Amino acid sequence: MTTGTRIIYADNAATTFPKPPEVLSEMLEVYTKKGVSPGRGSYDLSIEAENLVDEVRRQVCTFFNGDDPSRVVFGYNATDALNLIIQGLIEPGRHAVSSCLEHNSVLRPLHYFLQQGVIGLDLVSFDSEGFIDPGDVAKTIRPETRFVIINHGSNVVGTVQPVEQIGDVCVERGVPLILDVTQTAGIVPIDMQKWGVSAIAFTGHKSLYGPTGIGGLVARVGLDVRTTRFGGTGLDSRSLIHSQSYPQRLEAGTINILGVIGLSAGIRYIERQGLRRLYEEKMVLTRRLRDGLSAMEGVKLYCARSLKNHLPLLLCNVEGIDPEQVSTILDGDFGIATRAGLHCAPLVHQELGTSPRGAVRFSFGLFNTPEEIEKILRAMEAISRSQRKG
Ligand SMILES: Cc1ncc(COP(=O)(O)O)c(C=O)c1O
Repeated sequence: MTTGTRIIYADNAATTFPKPPEVLSEMLEVYTKKGVSPGRGSYDLSIEAENLVDEVRRQVCTFFNGDDPSRVVFGYNATDALNLIIQGLIEPGRHAVSSCLEHNSVLRPLHYFLQQGVIGLDLVSFDSEGFIDPGDVAKTIRPETRFVIINHGSNVVGTVQPVEQIGDVCVERGVPLILDVTQTAGIVPIDMQKWGVSAIAFTGHKSLYGPTGIGGLVARVGLDVRTTRFGGTGLDSRSLIHSQSYPQRLEAGTINILGVIGLSAGIRYIERQGLRRLYEEKMVLTRRLRDGLSAMEGVKLYCARSLKNHLPLLLCNVEGIDPEQVSTILDGDFGIATRAGLHCAPLVHQELGTSPRGAVRFSFGLFNTPEEIEKILRAMEAISRSQRKG
């Protein structure tokens, strides 16, 4: 498949591009035939639209091995879902455990409540390979800890955390574990029940190959999340109290049905291809790039010695050149799209020593090819050589 443009797209951790044509055509079909407001009208088409959304709740619940499809809550994206869960669980005087690997979509809400004096907060760090030690999580949990929230896969260094062990710690201590699976959903299988995970937040537009504007939360039965936004749900309209049954408890207003259908088509698409096969293909490219870059004079790679438990992304810098400039040259001179800077995760860069300028990230998706990796390597060689020559 070609991207329809001449660029080599290596920014799939920001959003996957392009989307499979199957996803787009399913979205179009639904919107031309059934895209009315779900759960609001009593006419057949509205009931059909509601059934479609409920079917996708079941699909998403199965995909992540949650335990109740009504606890699949749709929102705009992962940021929205993370805000829902964080704000819906926080209680004054309680404490949260998180990590330095988090994205701002976790760090900023937590920091806000910390600054307001509402909660206490501890952030665990990561080792030189980019992994959190579950023992550190255990040490930071206090009697008043309300939840542990961890980034399953780092959007900066690419490591996939040992969540099964972190889950064991949380289950033993009776503290809910919330996972931000934004980067891992669609790349590695996620098993909420097996891992003892109480809730996940996901986004549709990355490796689930759906559109932007759809994401959500999957919560386990037993984790009660407070309503933090209120409005119409299509249920019990006479009451001025927001519906407390799931999923309406956490959903207000008309659902993004086009996004829900796109999400569903994206999940079906990757399942048809096989997650394991897709992952292996992307890791072959990532390993080739890692080997090429690590042998290159003047290029520094971060945390990529072992690519076990790793996403198909790599972080690097060319010595002596600002990462933004490297990214601009890659784009302007070689037609390669990358993401430079802090990747909305300032603490990771602080720990790596790459703050405040950050680094350059290459991230791969379904449509990258081995030839593209060779072109990236030649481009990086040319940039570092011209820098060395001064
Ligand atoms: C780890 C992580 N969490 C959360 C987000 C936020 O995702 P979204 O922009 O879809 O809300 C991102 C986005 O890059 C991310 O990488």
